[in-house]
Amino acid sequence: MVMLGIETSCDETAAAVVTSNGEVLSSVISSQVDLHSIYGGVVPEIASRAHLELIIPVIDEALNGTAQAAASKRVVPDAVAATVGPGLAGALLVGASTGKALSLAWGVPFVGVNHLEGHLFAALLDHPDIQFPVAVLLVSGGHTLLMSMDAPGSYRLLGRTVDDAAGEAFDKVARYIGLGYPGGPAIENAARNGDPESMELPRPMIEKGLDFSFSGLKTAVIRVVQAHPEVKTEDIAAAFQRAIVDVLYTKVMRAAGIHGSSSICLAGGVAANSYLRDRLTAQCNANGIPCYLPSRDMCTDNAAMVAAAGIWQLEHIGPSSLSISIDPSMPIPMSA
Ligand code: KG4
Ligand code: ZN
Repeated sequence: MVMLGIETSCDETAAAVVTSNGEVLSSVISSQVDLHSIYGGVVPEIASRAHLELIIPVIDEALNGTAQAAASKRVVPDAVAATVGPGLAGALLVGASTGKALSLAWGVPFVGVNHLEGHLFAALLDHPDIQFPVAVLLVSGGHTLLMSMDAPGSYRLLGRTVDDAAGEAFDKVARYIGLGYPGGPAIENAARNGDPESMELPRPMIEKGLDFSFSGLKTAVIRVVQAHPEVKTEDIAAAFQRAIVDVLYTKVMRAAGIHGSSSICLAGGVAANSYLRDRLTAQCNANGIPCYLPSRDMCTDNAAMVAAAGIWQLEHIGPSSLSISIDPSMPIPMSA
């Protein structure tokens, strides 16, 4: 089966063609970062308008830019999957409506995909041999969830943030220290030239439990900068990155220990962070537990993960009704 996936939940307009044996035939991502960066964050109205302009060219490139298409074997998808939540309402509407219209026009099934579940399928697409149950740390701009994936489609919530999401903390700290948007990659780059031990920052809630809190860490950074305006941006970035990564890898290792996980994996935009990837890999190696990291391109928003989740959903649950609505605050379906 060949699935066209469409992703427009935030500021990336993306389309991809993926087969049921996990082959990514094409994956096109048009980022709107340049449009939003002057405002220091995503502006929902600008995002919706940009999705409207980009969605058809991006889908066209995904369908016609494949090797098969180049060899004049037209790629006709057997089904269409689009993100229906969570995300920005206007942005979701563009992708979901386009997906439904194409499914109707082509006479193929439509599948409405949960964006967070899409992030989980990014790991499965890159690592089909993943060992279940896997302890997953899903860290994105809007979510920080620690869960046990017992099988595809079967998730248990183990912990979550009580305030800001991890990506949100990267973005807010970056904005405060003048590194711009998106904050995660900017902090990662600046941190390479900084000294992580140049200042003391807290590791909120690291001692026990599986929940997270990041707003105190952000406030601690602000206090340091106010008290010492001369402090180097690179040093703040390095100290902040080390503090947040310490908390993230400690909690996922603890979750795997408590819940007897067979392996550990990362998902979501923050999972692209090299320092987090390296620290977690080192911990997993030291503890003899397999660690599955999606490729960095698969961590941030893309449509291949939506197509992969859509294939699983279509094969195990069935198609969605064309009357399915978008849901900006759609939760990930948990089994317990
Ligand atoms: O999953 P994603 O692309 O979109 C959402 O679903 O939110 O995640 C975006 C988030 C942003 O907060 C961004 O700053 C963060 O992921 N991010 C990173 C890195 N790349 C993206 N955070 C830390 N290090 C990175 N290299
Ligand atoms: Zn995402």
